[in-house]
Amino acid sequence: MKKALIIGSTGTIGSAVIKAFADAGYEVTGASRNTSPSIDIEDPVSIEKFFIPGKSYDTIICAAGNATFGDLELLNEESFRNSFNSKLTGQIRVVQSGLPVLNTNGVILLTGGMFAFEPWPGTSAIAAANCGLEGFVRAVTREIKDLTDKKSVRIIHPPLVAETAKMMNMDPAPWPFAADVAGFYLKGATGEAKNEVIYVDGYSPKVLG
Ligand SMILES: NC(=O)c1ccc[n+]([C@@H]2O[C@H](COP(=O)([O-])OP(=O)(O)OC[C@H]3O[C@@H](n4cnc5c(N)ncnc54)[C@H](OP(=O)(O)O)[C@@H]3O)[C@@H](O)[C@H]2O)c1
Repeated sequence: MKKALIIGSTGTIGSAVIKAFADAGYEVTGASRNTSPSIDIEDPVSIEKFFIPGKSYDTIICAAGNATFGDLELLNEESFRNSFNSKLTGQIRVVQSGLPVLNTNGVILLTGGMFAFEPWPGTSAIAAANCGLEGFVRAVTREIKDLTDKKSVRIIHPPLVAETAKMMNMDPAPWPFAADVAGFYLKGATGEAKNEVIYVDGYSPKVLG
């Protein structure tokens, strides 16, 4: 049975991803700052402790990582530092510590977001983190092909999901549900998605940009 680790498993997207992988027959492990064992992607020591030799996975998904909403004039040095430490460097740490325990043909899937290519006002910190993460994935993909082969690192750029739109008192109608988005994580893990940058159908740069 294939093994999937989902970091951020209790979140809006993570809980849908857990269900999609369990339904597809994976043995799933969920993790976050409040699980046992716990993982905090903002803390390098926590990540090192979590990924112990001998416990390997076919898919590692990170659906965690915060970045700050706010107009540029309201964002300070700390807002950007915290956003990058979580959403960008946090997920980079997952790749660095996760690759050694990833099985042959395994996939690591990171989570960006549509603000990488369709930013709204107030999303500069989020967009910067998402674009940085995409650049990281593109570069690492080329290294991995040469070095360890058969393992891949991919990034998914989900649009706003309906559940989150509702929480933000926005109209959820234009947006897909987390369960629909979760299907694209599954495609990314099974190789059905051919590129290292994965968009949700109907919410790609060509459509939205
Ligand atoms: N929701 C959307 O509309 C949307 C759209 C595009 C992209 N995204 C991106 O998708 C990701 C997940 O979003 P979401 O809305 O599902 O978030 P969410 O509902 O707030 O859930 C976040 C999940 O991540 C865990 N988490 C938070 N900080 C963590 C840390 N430092 N280390 C480990 N786990 C941590 C949380 O659990 P604990 O609190 O227990 O740690 C929780 O399980 C984020 O990167 C977000 O930017 C979301």
